[in-house]
Amino acid sequence: MKIISLIGARPQFIKEAVLHKEFEKNGIKEILVHSGQHYDKNMSDIFFKTLKIKNPDYYLNIGSGNHGEMTGKIMIEFEKIILKEKPDIVLVYGDTNTTLAGAIVASKLKIPVAHVEAGIRQEPKDMPEEINRVLTDRISNYLFCPSKLAVENLKKENITDGVYFVGDIMYDLYKIMEKQFKYEIFEKLKLKENEYILMTMHRDFNVDKKEKLEKILNQIEKISKEKTIVFPIHPRTRKRIKEFKLEKYLEKVIKLDPIDYLNLMGLVKKSWKIITDSGGLQKEAYFAQKQAIVVMPDTGWRELIELKWNKLANENDLYEKAFDENEVNYPKNVYGDGNTGEKIVKVIYSEG
Ligand code: UD1
Repeated sequence: MKIISLIGARPQFIKEAVLHKEFEKNGIKEILVHSGQHYDKNMSDIFFKTLKIKNPDYYLNIGSGNHGEMTGKIMIEFEKIILKEKPDIVLVYGDTNTTLAGAIVASKLKIPVAHVEAGIRQEPKDMPEEINRVLTDRISNYLFCPSKLAVENLKKENITDGVYFVGDIMYDLYKIMEKQFKYEIFEKLKLKENEYILMTMHRDFNVDKKEKLEKILNQIEKISKEKTIVFPIHPRTRKRIKEFKLEKYLEKVIKLDPIDYLNLMGLVKKSWKIITDSGGLQKEAYFAQKQAIVVMPDTGWRELIELKWNKLANENDLYEKAFDENEVNYPKNVYGDGNTGEKIVKVIYSEG
């Protein structure tokens, strides 16, 4: 059996780290293709190194661009690889432009598509990631759902064939790597345990418009007067802050470049709370028993909101939500028990 995995952006490297080891264990040949959507050293290489992911067999080098341009470029290059390699199955992950491009190419060539992290749905419907998710699920043959809610979401769209509840693969990685989390940045910055907020922000709807980003950073400035904030800044956001001249709001904030998985998780574990608009980090906060303030109108990980573990916030109430304390018991095993990789490989193996 021959599998091609297509990855390209940070969260996909994390998911691939688990699966490629499972494939190896089971003697399944996996060809790894990197689209090049993320290309900066600390957005890409560093994940391959720290998570010991094998070097990609193909690198498409597509870089950044408009959505159509990126998706189109990946499709053109990826099609050539599929035609040459003739895989039995193509694996795509999550919700990026890389995901959608891979799913379209494979399905048109009648190669079965497996979507890892299927069924996640989130408002606003016109956000690029939501468009990528909905379309990818529609043309996938294997839909690996991280949560029961994801299975329900698919049912509402009449997608029931090939749907598997397998749990969240990011929890597998968290469990595998927990003992190796690094505290180098925590120590270097002389942070105090349980006394700082770790923040990330990169969604287009939060950072691409000046008025919205300014309001968010205004709230962050208010919070930073009372609590230390550590902020690894995504290149998209760094560019916008500079372009809109909003640096003044971040004077008291500890600003960093994006950081590798092991050090980021080290920072999560020692933090007081998380402020984020990252899908991955909202869950990683939960795995580490930390609460996240999610700066989004809605989230694909609604269970954590309904369980009152995480909270949604916006550009006007972020400060208030950050300091709004409520007693809530830690809800266990919301996303499975950490053997998602094994379950996915079993399904693929038995059907293939
Ligand atoms: C993408 C995904 C998003 C995911 C995120 C993880 C889409 C539509 N979105 O968003 O789901 O949560 O990755 O980080 O695919 N840039 C660099 N260096 C890089 C990569 C990007 O400077 O290595 C800058 C470029 O200016 C680029 C911008 O960041 O235009 C946005 O990159 P892009 O890959 O389009 O989207 P992300 O915001 O990273």
